[in-house]
Amino acid sequence: MSLSAVSFQVQPSSIGGETGVPGDKSISHRAVLLGAIARGRSSVRGFSDGADCAATVACARALGVPISQPAGDTLQIEGVGAHGLRAPAGTLDAGNSGTTLRLLTGLLAGQTFDSVLTGDASLRRRPMARVAEPLCRMGAEVLTTSGCPPVRIRGGRQLSGIHYRLPVPSAQVKSALLLAGLYARGETCIEETDPARDHTERMLPAFRCVIERRDRCVCISGGQQLRGCNIDVPGDFSAAAFFIVAASLAGRDTLVIRDVGVNRTRTGLLQALASMGAAIELLRPRRQGGEPVADISVRPAPLRGIRVPPALVPAMIDELPVLAVAAAAASGCTLITGAGELRLKESDRISVIAGGLRALGIDVQEAPDGLSIEGGTLEGGRVDARGDHRAAMAFAVAGAAARGPVEVSDVANVGTSFPGFVASARAIGMNITGGIGGA
Ligand code: S3P
Repeated sequence: MSLSAVSFQVQPSSIGGETGVPGDKSISHRAVLLGAIARGRSSVRGFSDGADCAATVACARALGVPISQPAGDTLQIEGVGAHGLRAPAGTLDAGNSGTTLRLLTGLLAGQTFDSVLTGDASLRRRPMARVAEPLCRMGAEVLTTSGCPPVRIRGGRQLSGIHYRLPVPSAQVKSALLLAGLYARGETCIEETDPARDHTERMLPAFRCVIERRDRCVCISGGQQLRGCNIDVPGDFSAAAFFIVAASLAGRDTLVIRDVGVNRTRTGLLQALASMGAAIELLRPRRQGGEPVADISVRPAPLRGIRVPPALVPAMIDELPVLAVAAAAASGCTLITGAGELRLKESDRISVIAGGLRALGIDVQEAPDGLSIEGGTLEGGRVDARGDHRAAMAFAVAGAAARGPVEVSDVANVGTSFPGFVASARAIGMNITGGIGGA
C-alpha cells in the first residue's frame, strides 16, 4: 500500500480520562544539536519518538557524533566539541523536518567542511532563503536551489556577528542564527517583534553557554564551548493540542494530559480557547529544566467564535489547524488573520484546512493570511490531509466531534511527530481506527 493511501476512520466519540503525550519535538531537536557540539556526554530523557527527531539524530551521526538510545525515550549523546564535527560522507537528509534542515544549516555554516542538505518532496518546497540570506550576511556561503532545498554550504568561511531583525517571526531562523553565532567573531544579536518559541535560548545556559536577552533581542558571543548536560524533555504541547480540542468538543468528563510543556511562546491556543469559552486548567505548574510544565485538565464546554488576535499567532502557529476545528464547532464566526506563514508549512495549511472543513459541511472563506470560519455542525464525510501530520490529527478531532463517520486520507505523516497518536487517542475514548499498521 502506498503511504498516501493510509487513512483514519473516525466516528463520533466521547473523550475523557488521563494520558501523556510524546516528548516535545522542538526541544528534542535542540537537545541533539547542542549535545552534539558540546564537550562531554549529554543525556536526554523524554526524547520525541517522531520521525522528524530521528532525522536530526541520523544527521548528527552522519556528522560523526556517537549517539545511543540506552532506553526507550532516553538518548545519550557523546558530544564532539565545537570543532569536532566531521564532513558527512553524503547528502544530509532531513526527511520532512523543517527544524532539522534550518537549524543544521545554521550549525554547518560555521564548519570547516562542505555539506549538502535536502529533504522529502514537501520539505524541498519550503523556503530556505530566510535562513540563507542572514547567514550570507554573516559571511557564510549558503546556496539554495531557487530559494528551497537542496542547500549547499561551503565550509571554511570566517563568520562575523550581525544584528538581524527577523522579518517573519520564526524560531527556526532565530535558532539557526544563534547556532551560527557560536562560530562567529563577535556578537550575533537577533531582534524579534513578535516572539517566536524560545527553547534554544532557554536550553543554551544548561549547556553553560552565555546568552543575553536585551529588550527584543537575544544575543550570543562566538567562540563559546558548550558542556554536556542532562535534559528532561517535557510533553509536546503541540501534540496535546489535539486532545485539548477533542475534549472541549467531544468530552464525556474531564481529560487530564500529564507533564506538558506550557512555555508561553507555545500556548497561544490556550488563550484563544479561553476566550472561546473553553474550560481548561493548568494543574501542578512546575519547572523542568528551563521550561514550565503542567498537567492540563479539560472539561467539555460550548465554544463561541472569536477574532484571533494576530499577535497571538506566533505562539500558536502549529495549533491553528486544530483551532480551526474548534472554530468549526463553535457558535458564530472565527476570524484568523496574520497567519500567512501557514501556507509555508508541511502543506499549505490554509488551503488544506479550508478544503477539509468544507468537506464536513462548514462554511469557510480563505484569505491570503488566514481563514474565516462560520461555526456550525460538523457532518460526516471524507477529507484529505494531503500528507500533513497536523492536518491529519486536526481532522481526526473533527471526526470525533462530527455527527457522522469521517474518513481522513493521506495521514501516514502523523509518524513525523506523534507515531502513537491512534493508540493514545483510542485510550482516551476517540473512536478511531487506521493509520500506519492500524486496524
Ligand atoms: C519550530 C518552529 C516553527 C514551527 C515548527 C517548529 C521550531 O516554525 O512551525 O513546527 O522547532 O523551531 P517557524 O520557525 O518556521 O515558524
